Order: sequence, then structure tokens, then C-alpha cells
Amino acid sequence: SPESLERLRSTIRDVPDFPQPGILFKDITPVLADPELLNEAIEGMTEAFAGQKVDKVVGIDARGFIFGALIAQRLGAGFIPVRKKGKLPWQTRGVDYSLEYGKNSVEMHVDALAPREKVVLADDLLATGGTAGAALQLIQESGADLLGSVFFIELAFLNGREKLAETGPVHALLTF
Ligand code: PRP
Repeated sequence: SPESLERLRSTIRDVPDFPQPGILFKDITPVLADPELLNEAIEGMTEAFAGQKVDKVVGIDARGFIFGALIAQRLGAGFIPVRKKGKLPWQTRGVDYSLEYGKNSVEMHVDALAPREKVVLADDLLATGGTAGAALQLIQESGADLLGSVFFIELAFLNGREKLAETGPVHALLTF
């Protein structure tokens, strides 16, 4: 409902100059700490895929694990982690990307997704789209079918949505 979206929006805490000067960090931990708001967030993020058969939800290290795993359970899907370089124990595929602040590389297990599996990508935040773009490349390389991407927050002024547009539908619960 519009009321619960407004409560979610007003519960996100703005932290200036974190993790670097000039970055206004959106702190979602007060949302996670509130059982009702956490439920509203997950319910809102799953709406776009309701009634669709979803095999796997891919979540991005680290806050994407929280949203991704809860969304996977709500949709009756399995959960696949995309992790920062060097964290996954088995054979991996990796993609390098540049971030709003810095550079990074993400990896997925080579056998995490099977060809033609129905997959949703989930993360807490869409900023420049570099991280999600790298994860989407990993999903595409696996031969799985991407149903779409879903984010708790989209920072619209960073135009991440444009970067992801040709991969499939992009959903965001809250836009700043
Ligand atoms: C944040 C956020 C997204 C990404 C978005 O993660 O959780 O994954 O940045 O930025 P982008 O759209 O510009 O790529 P971060 O890399 O800070 O990792 P963390 O969750 O481990 O803190």
C-alpha cells in the first residue's frame, strides 16, 4: 500500500559521507530490524513475479543475500549467491566491474544455474548498475532464462536502470 511504502521510505536512514566523503549512504538496517517492514519489503519485491514459476533467485554479496534469500523462500525458489572475488569455495566464473566508489569483481559457481532455469536477480540497491550488470552477465553466461531484476532501492539519478534495460525487466520498490 502507499502507506507501507511511505513507512519503508521514511525508515531508511541517510548517512552522509559513508563509506567515503560525498556519498549519502542509504542504511536499510532499521527496515530489516522491524518485522512488519521487513515483511512489507519482501512482499513488495516479490509482487512483480507472483504467479510466475521461479527456479532460482540470485542474490548479490552482501546485503543482496538478505533480500534474495527471503524472496527465494517467498517464491518457492532456491537461492544462489553471487559473491565478491575469492569467497566461493568451488569452481567459479567471474566478471569485473566498476562501482560508484571503487572497483570490484564478482563470482558465481560454474554449476549454480542450469540452462533454461527461470531466474530472478535480487539486491538491496541499484546505483550505477555496475554490480547488477556483472551479476546479470554471469546469469546470461550460464544459459539460464532471466525473468527480471528486483531491488529494494533504486538511486534514479545514477541511471543504473538504463544499463540493465536490455537484459530484461527492472523492478524497484523505492526510488530516490
Ligand atoms: C552495494 C549494493 C549493491 C551495489 C550497487 O554493494 O549492495 O550491490 O553496491 O552499486 P552499483 O549499482 O553502483 O554497482 P557493495 O559493493 O557496497 O557491497 P556490500 O553489500 O558487501 O557492502
